[in-house]
Amino acid sequence: MWDYAGKEYLDFSSQLVNTNIGHQHPKVVAAIQAQAETLATVAPAHANLARGEAAKRILQRAPGGFGKVFFTNAGADANENAMRMARGFTGRDKILSAYRSYHGNTGAAIVATGDPRRIPNEFARGHAHFFNPYLYRTDFWATNEAEECERALQHLQRVIECEGAASIAAILLESIPGTAGVLIPPNGYLEGVRKLADQYGILLIFDEVMAGFGRTGRWFAFEHFEVTPDLIVFAKGVNSGYVPAGGVIVSEAICRHFDDQMFFGGLTYSGHPLAMASIVATLDAMRDEGVVENADRVGNGALAKGLSQLAADHAIVGETRGLGVFHALELVSDRRTRTPLPADDMAKLKSALLTKGLLPFVIENRIHIVPPCIVSEAEVEQGLAILDEALGAVK
Ligand SMILES: Cc1ncc(COP(=O)(O)O)c(C=O)c1O
Repeated sequence: MWDYAGKEYLDFSSQLVNTNIGHQHPKVVAAIQAQAETLATVAPAHANLARGEAAKRILQRAPGGFGKVFFTNAGADANENAMRMARGFTGRDKILSAYRSYHGNTGAAIVATGDPRRIPNEFARGHAHFFNPYLYRTDFWATNEAEECERALQHLQRVIECEGAASIAAILLESIPGTAGVLIPPNGYLEGVRKLADQYGILLIFDEVMAGFGRTGRWFAFEHFEVTPDLIVFAKGVNSGYVPAGGVIVSEAICRHFDDQMFFGGLTYSGHPLAMASIVATLDAMRDEGVVENADRVGNGALAKGLSQLAADHAIVGETRGLGVFHALELVSDRRTRTPLPADDMAKLKSALLTKGLLPFVIENRIHIVPPCIVSEAEVEQGLAILDEALGAVK
């Protein structure tokens, strides 16, 4: 990336963790140009070839048992629609989600709406939260992964019982919470959540907006675990954000329900041809160029190794964790107490990284190491060297 003054940066942020295929990929740019000449826009009630092709490619990458894709403009409205599907399918109201999560920034528009589409969507009361596992800053006084997992599941079961299982439509979880700190769930946690959901007739929605489409070295992050959700929410990496796009991959059972039931949703730009053409080109290029395999090889190889070395060399690194090109360095002023590195030190660190030509993703006391999935080993070495120098300068 180059700034206004022409200074060059190595992008270790993928912008907002979305440019998985990198910047200005020529095949994606050309596909958008060609689509603009063929059909620049059309209402969602009309089929368009690009939409069918995009849905087909997404379903090919999803596990078995998924039937359709509902397209949206971004991640937030994809989550809105996934929750709406869960409510429509189950006839229940509540959505349980984790405190340590980010699912998007909408919510009031349909409730502010005056026409009757508002009525089935007036659910402001319908959200409850629970603590998800995060061993480094455990909410469960756990000392190891197995304890954290077991206690987090016991806690979730208590929340389900206290909220009233029969009122809960879905549990909505980021498979790997991203903005909250790249929190890899302990072995068995997601499987345990699936079991609880099944036990109480609750749907399971995985938000893969940040973790999906290659970021962890798999097409979907939940593939690292033995679990399949009922609804998969995606955006960002599906087309690297070249045109705004998101969506929900819907299980066959939920598709069947909406074959003869009204779905109280809809968007002017659902399945927008430019977005769909960019999805088709992105997914084809990712397949042809081995982009997901690269994220796995470089991310779980040179990057993971280099970050462990930084943790060994710098006392301010409290923990490093991640998968593929989805890592976080948790910075502390005291390793024993795990006190977060103060905000002014984080600000100085960010400036130092920018000065040295690294565009970082800094949030609270963490640096998220999230380069595009196409990052090379040489670029990883270059980025790690800048990080090493900047971390060393923090007193
Ligand atoms: C996991 C997750 N879900 C949803 C969103 C919201 O996506 P958007 O900003 O495209 O609405 C984000 C954005 O960062 C995200 O990380």
